[in-house]
Amino acid sequence: MNKHSSFSQPSPRSVDEITGSRRLRRMRKAPWSRRLVQETQLTVNDLIWPIFLTEGTNVREPIAAMPGLFRVSPDLAAKEAERAAKLGIPALATFPNVAFDLKDEAGSQIRERENLINRGTRAIKAAVPEIGIITDVALDPFTTHGHDGILRDGIILNDETVAQIAHGAVLQAEAGADIIAPSDMMDGRIGAIRDALDANGFSDVPIMSYATKFASAYYGPYREAIGTAGLLKGDKKTYYIDPANSDEAVRETEQDLAEGADMIMVKPGLPYLDIIRRLKDEFAMPTFAYQVSGEYSMIRAAAANGWIDGERVMMETLLAFKRAGCDGILTYFAPEAAELLAKGGL
Ligand code: PBG
Repeated sequence: MNKHSSFSQPSPRSVDEITGSRRLRRMRKAPWSRRLVQETQLTVNDLIWPIFLTEGTNVREPIAAMPGLFRVSPDLAAKEAERAAKLGIPALATFPNVAFDLKDEAGSQIRERENLINRGTRAIKAAVPEIGIITDVALDPFTTHGHDGILRDGIILNDETVAQIAHGAVLQAEAGADIIAPSDMMDGRIGAIRDALDANGFSDVPIMSYATKFASAYYGPYREAIGTAGLLKGDKKTYYIDPANSDEAVRETEQDLAEGADMIMVKPGLPYLDIIRRLKDEFAMPTFAYQVSGEYSMIRAAAANGWIDGERVMMETLLAFKRAGCDGILTYFAPEAAELLAKGGL
């Protein structure tokens, strides 16, 4: 008796009988036909490049947890913007690494006209006026405790935070930011920012809402990049969304749109493709994903170990965002992906 003897032979049916002659591989047999039926495309127009700002001039510091990335002073940020513009990248998003002595409990630096993020915007706009600048309006780079809100007796004060952020948003617009992107998840922030922008002559400045920002472990490397890693007390679960929740993501987005958000974002990216698809189907709004620091660093680390082909995984993840319904992606890979696309892709 051999070990396969228990297998009973089925009555023979051909594959054509099984499939009804529908063979899905027909369209996959050649590169040209695969190109013809390709449903989703990634282009340079889909890319937003997040960059990190730091004080000084001619400063370019590597970020240990994000290999290949640097914090740059405003003058070098302008150079990065030139590079991005040459590659055809439509917009940058800026994040400041604020000196500790400028931080306080309330993140008051956000109300400083010449704070680091606004100086970054001015430097970039002076050098490359045609590139879009998206500024994150949140308190975490400016607070001694690393929270996105004003913290008093262990409680995040929603309404005081909203007032602080709305003020900061106006200064960001005044510095030349093209899109204001609040990432703090306080209630009422979108409407308050809209009112403040409108009252100060910036009614044409759109708001990209970090509509669904999840309480995620994927932000780790970013916190090293902006120097908040050692500062954060506790977690952000009282304001970011529980990763378990999808209906709540819809309600958050609905609320932000009702308050006047022009564009919506899902963050992190790849683990939340289901949310992206749901929001796109539900609201048909310009929808973006943030492929966050942890996603970037995981790909980089595995590639550095020779475990994956980093370029192919990068392009596959970016395409996946498009397939899920994104109009664009904030990604630290933006210049690398743009270079590859300019060469005709992989
Ligand atoms: C907070 C903020 C975060 C990121 C950008 N702005 C999250 C956080 O630190 O809680 C994360 C970006 C990334 O991980 O790439 N306002």
